[in-house]
Formats: sequence, structure tokens, C-alpha cells
Amino acid sequence: MIGENAKAGLVDLRSDTVTRPSAAMTRAMLEAPLGDDVFGDDPTVNRLQAHAAQMLGFTHALLFPTGTQSNLAALMSHCGRGEEYIVGQDAHTYRYEAGGGAVLGSIQPQPLANRPDGTLDLAEVEAAIKPDDPHFAHTRLLALENTIGGRAIARQYFDQALELAKRRKLSTHLDGARVFNAAAGLGVNARDLCRGFDSVSVCLSKGLGAPAGTLLLGDEAVIGRARRARKILGGAMRQAGVIAAAGLYALEHNVARLAEDHANAERLAQGLRDAGFEVQGPHTNMVFVHAPEGFAEHMVGNGILVLGGPRMRLVTHLDVDAAGIDRALAVARAFRNKPR
Ligand SMILES: Cc1ncc(COP(=O)(O)O)c(C=O)c1O
Repeated sequence: MIGENAKAGLVDLRSDTVTRPSAAMTRAMLEAPLGDDVFGDDPTVNRLQAHAAQMLGFTHALLFPTGTQSNLAALMSHCGRGEEYIVGQDAHTYRYEAGGGAVLGSIQPQPLANRPDGTLDLAEVEAAIKPDDPHFAHTRLLALENTIGGRAIARQYFDQALELAKRRKLSTHLDGARVFNAAAGLGVNARDLCRGFDSVSVCLSKGLGAPAGTLLLGDEAVIGRARRARKILGGAMRQAGVIAAAGLYALEHNVARLAEDHANAERLAQGLRDAGFEVQGPHTNMVFVHAPEGFAEHMVGNGILVLGGPRMRLVTHLDVDAAGIDRALAVARAFRNKPR
């Protein structure tokens, strides 16, 4: 089942968030039994939360409309006013969420440089933990991300990071918006990548094809505090089963196929290299291209939707197939061959 853009002949490589619900997913949404989730009696939301918790090795899960809200509720669950979290400069929870932890949670970030592979140097993390002294914010949380910039980080790193956090009594949060991509890229089970974290945020609307929805996973206490934070951040949705049904469909049908997106990213990267472009990746479903001036405009003008910028990120997903990739490559080659 292809999305509306593909039907219109457009190839949308801007993000894996651009997918449209398939006919089968839409049917599941239409047919979902509903209730009021603020009362906790939407059966489809409850089924999604139980299914995701079981699938990823947690006792509790909570549905949010977005990954941004889920990450922020996690920060607020782990940290109080005047406390801080250690986080990568490139992490979504630091760089791309409008400073929500500081603005709404009164939580101070302690950003550290990400290494080229996306990890944080654990010696730097340890050195950044503040002593118990009234001059300093209390360091409470280590927040990591997988995948980060499309790069999948292996379990071995998390074993070391979680050991450090435990020894220094920090809580741990994983922004696992694309943890299923990480698992597919590494050839492991997503549950193995989530193990040991106090909370994990997993998006249903990135690569998995749902129109909205993010799950926060944790134990009863973490999720209890996150539920309160969710209320502060705007509250729960009522008959959210329409969203949850899409999420259930996504988890049941669209996880195993992520390897196809990675293969398409590989095809895209190789084709661009063959055409003489400077390419980084693929990292799971993402390819980065050094974009010459006028390249983005050329692509968009020929029906290949991309975002601008000198380091162009191209993302594969379930609404782009190998034929779409070949179309994108033909347009890219035409740019190369254009007389200038
Ligand atoms: C790694 C990561 N975390 C969190 C988010 C936030 O998700 P949302 O757009 O649903 O708020 C994104 C969005 O692209 C993301 O890439």
C-alpha cells in the first residue's frame, strides 16, 4: 500500500514522518473500540500500552501525541526543579525540543559533545556530574538517544553507560524514537537495546507509518509521574483509541519491514556515490549528501521532495520503494549532467 505522495508520483525523502496511514491501518482506526482515556477506559489505548510494554520489556507504558511531549514528560518524571540532565549536544531532547526541559520543567541541561558515532564519552559524562554543593544543580539523569542521526548504537556502549549511571545514582532515559531502526540495523531485538533504562520513548509515527503517537515506557513510579507531567503539558487525549489502533497496526505490521528501508537507503547512497556526490552513510534509513548549490531546488522542481542545507539528509520509509529511489537517482544524475 503506497501513500498519496507516491501515488502522485512524488518521492518524499524529507523524513520518515511523512508517511500516510495505509488503507488497512485506516480500517483498523475506524473499527477500534473506543473509550475515554482520561478515565483509563479506552480499550485500544490500554491494549497498545500493554502490548508495547510487553514487547519492549517494561511493566508500564503511556501514550503521548508526540515524541517531544513524551521526552519532556520523561525529563519531568526523573528531574525536579533546579535539577539537571546530562545529554548530547546533538540529542533531540536537548537541541530540537525548544528547550522544553528548562522552559516548562525548570530542569537545566548539561550538554556534552557527541562523538562522530553519536555516543558520549563516558569519562566526560562522569566528570560532568556535579558534586553535592549548593553552588550546583543536582545532576539526576543521563539522557541518551538511539538511533542518533540515523546511527545505531550497540548494546555494549549502553552496558557501560548504564553501569556508570547506576554507580553514580543517575536515572537513565533513552530517546528511542527510532529504536526499531537501531535494532534492525544491528540485527538485534529492540528489547535488548531498551534493557536497563528507567524510561524509553518510542515513536510510532517515524518509519512505522502511524499518523501520530509516541509511547513512553518505564515502571509504575516513572510512568505515574510522567502521567502527571502529561497533564501539565496539555493533558491526555480522550478517544485516543483511533490513534492507538494505528500504533498497534504499526507495531504488528511495520516493524519487520524496516530492513527494506535500510536496503533502499543503501541503494540511494550507492547510486549517489556512483553519480559523483559526496555521501555519508547510509546510517540505518538515513543518507547524508554534501549538496551543491541549487541541488535541493533541482530535486524539488522534479518531484523529489528534500530539505535544503549543505548537509542534506535523505530519509527512506515505507512510502518510498526501490522504484522511487531509482527515480530520485535519475533526477540527481540529471543535476550532475546539467550544463552550467
Ligand atoms: C530522535 C527524535 N526524538 C524525538 C523526536 C520528536 O518527535 P515528534 O516530532 O513526534 O515530537 C524526533 C522527531 O523527529 C526525533 O527525531
